[in-house]
Amino acid sequence: MVGDPGTFETIKEDRPLRGVVVGAGYIGGQWAPELLAHPGTELVGWVDVVVERARAAAAELGLDDLPVSDSLTALLDGEEPDFIVNCTVPQAHHDVTVTALRRGVSVLSEKPMAVTLDEARSMVKAADEAGRLFAVNQNRRFMQTLVAFRRTVADLGPLGVLTSEFFMPYRGPEFLGTLEHPLLQDMAIHLFDAARAVSGADPVSVYCESFRPSWTWYPGACSATAIFEMTGGLRYTFAGSWSAPGQATSWTGSWRAAGPRGTARWDGKGDPTAEAAEGHVVRPHPPEADAFPGRRRFQGLAEGLEEFVTGLRTGQAPQGECHDNIRSLAMVTAALESARTGARVPITL
Ligand SMILES: NC(=O)c1ccc[n+]([C@@H]2O[C@H](COP(=O)([O-])OP(=O)(O)OC[C@H]3O[C@@H](n4cnc5c(N)ncnc54)[C@H](O)[C@@H]3O)[C@@H](O)[C@H]2O)c1
Repeated sequence: MVGDPGTFETIKEDRPLRGVVVGAGYIGGQWAPELLAHPGTELVGWVDVVVERARAAAAELGLDDLPVSDSLTALLDGEEPDFIVNCTVPQAHHDVTVTALRRGVSVLSEKPMAVTLDEARSMVKAADEAGRLFAVNQNRRFMQTLVAFRRTVADLGPLGVLTSEFFMPYRGPEFLGTLEHPLLQDMAIHLFDAARAVSGADPVSVYCESFRPSWTWYPGACSATAIFEMTGGLRYTFAGSWSAPGQATSWTGSWRAAGPRGTARWDGKGDPTAEAAEGHVVRPHPPEADAFPGRRRFQGLAEGLEEFVTGLRTGQAPQGECHDNIRSLAMVTAALESARTGARVPITL
């Protein structure tokens, strides 16, 4: 079943795990150094449909002899990796991931899992049929201050209200301008997944409006507001815009959570704060120290790789394991459906 926890084969041989990066664009260039830095992995190849990009990216890391290819299947057959890191554009996520899984190769993917829920369902099915680990790395889950906020929220008792605001005056890459709903289709997954991580609740239904304020520079609906019903009766509300006229939030938004024992707030960057309800005591949890200090790196990739490698070695599912992560994508696809139809949409997997 799509929503049930998955089981996957572990790797017992005493050797580094062999990884191939697929996609040599911006984020592929951030993942490759992680495979080189992790003591339990090695980088054995790089694929890009534009092979010159893979060659140039490898050369930049001093890896002139690294096998590169424009053919995923050729590199999988030639190098026999244990896993790939899918760093392609969202439209290619489905085909790249399913191709690897069907060859018995595990997959760690960039967000979002896929563009549509149907694609995502078929990817989860492919992982089940192959008995391989398929996980999506939601890098913000590993922010030390998000973890501190999550722990603080856990002390508030059963949550009733969770809100997040995301406001950025952002003129992003060209593709954002081509999307019908650029905020929902590109950014919202980070906030929606964080809402699940912080609350421990799953989505039940959503009502969403997506729209263009008069001053926006986007052709598409760059602003949205959504009300999610979550399990346990929690309401999670989201409001955001790519065209904020001042007073930007952080890249992880601005948050408030309320439960019977009090309220916690987080500006999406710094330490969380908390205030107890009358008769209760709550204190904000402090963030823990960086587990990978002293190295310039893209946030949350080293931690995600560590969880993935632990998964392949022990069978313990990483946070973004596909049967769980599909719920975050379902929040996006249901919000889009609600925005397009004007109806409250139940969220089913
Ligand atoms: N977690 C984050 O904060 C974060 C940040 C940036 C990007 N991302 C995600 O990473 C993914 C890639 O983003 P990007 O900014 O690196 O994009 P990009 O356009 O810079 O790079 C994508 C690369 O994939 C290649 N490609 C496309 N289809 C392919 C296929 N079928 N097989 C092999 N290669 C293929 C392209 O040629 C390109 O070089 C997206 O899903 C994006 O949402 C996540």
